[in-house]
Amino acid sequence: MAELAIETHDLTKRFRSQLAVDGLALAVPRGSVFGFLGPNGSGKTTTIRMLLGLVAATAGDARVLGAEMPRHVDTVLPRVGALVEGPAFSPYLSGEANLRRFDAADRWAPRRTRAARVTEALDRVGLSHAARKKVHAYSLGMKQRLGLANALLTPRELLVLDEPTNGLDPQGTREVRALIRSFADDGTTVFVSSHLLAEVEQVCTHVGVMSAGRLVAQGTLDEFRAEGETRVLVRTPDVARAREVLAGLGLDVDAAGDASMTARLGATPPERVVVALVEGDVRVRGFETLHADLEQRFVELTGEGFDVVQ
Ligand SMILES: Nc1ncnc2c1ncn2[C@@H]1O[C@H](COP(=O)(O)OP(=O)(O)O)[C@@H](O)[C@H]1O
Ligand SMILES: [Mg+2]
Repeated sequence: MAELAIETHDLTKRFRSQLAVDGLALAVPRGSVFGFLGPNGSGKTTTIRMLLGLVAATAGDARVLGAEMPRHVDTVLPRVGALVEGPAFSPYLSGEANLRRFDAADRWAPRRTRAARVTEALDRVGLSHAARKKVHAYSLGMKQRLGLANALLTPRELLVLDEPTNGLDPQGTREVRALIRSFADDGTTVFVSSHLLAEVEQVCTHVGVMSAGRLVAQGTLDEFRAEGETRVLVRTPDVARAREVLAGLGLDVDAAGDASMTARLGATPPERVVVALVEGDVRVRGFETLHADLEQRFVELTGEGFDVVQ
């Protein structure tokens, strides 16, 4: 069994003059929950469409569950559940009837077990109570969950979810997160895209960050946090003197109050800063190193905040 659920080399998509995806080298380990993050327009959906064989790459290659795509689309797709831009459910059919219809259209799904699988998928996403309700009476969150149920109709090794929390309220978002966690607990690899870091950060083991078509970073969540810029926080009544000492070390002070200040540490070891402050007659009442949170790291990478709800 291949160690990577998704692997791409130089994956590229050009739409006429626009380079939507530029030389992607993705490595998504089996068993991970991989957050595929980036602002709107950064190339996430286009990448996902290439992975699923929905659109042809301009250059490069992609392997999904160990097999080259789109050449092996017939053997790969039955093992992959996908939620891409919400499937077109018929509003005048019930959730259950919609799922049966989608399942019937899936030539790999066994007919004999259809009814049971539909019931189970609805149960899994917490829609049993609304199974017979027509979809036009569903809330946005219920439709999104129906989309997830659709991705779960047959057992999957990999789930590819494109912005599954889009348009959901905080409660709906929490529910989707809990579902993602439960898929992962079953050993399913989950590749989930979002332009909102905060919505997936809590469930991811790995992240990849897109910016203008390029993958600007990828790794485990912990590696990611560790790479962020470290700052020092100095508490002292001698702010002016402390500022001089820090400047003497080449550190940029980025915020200062009456009795404390922070500065970017760069490559300077924090213990050197403490010694310099003490030798500079700064009364140090508190000293701390602050690791950048993920949000800051993303802003550094993409030049954009992720917390803007659109
Ligand atoms: N079918 C298409 N034709 C032309 N341009 C497209 C098409 N699909 C996407 N794009 C462009 O490619 C870029 C990436 O889009 P997309 O993959 O949808 O980004 P994301 O999912 O990260 O928001 C955008 O600039 C978008 O306008
Ligand atoms: Mg998209």
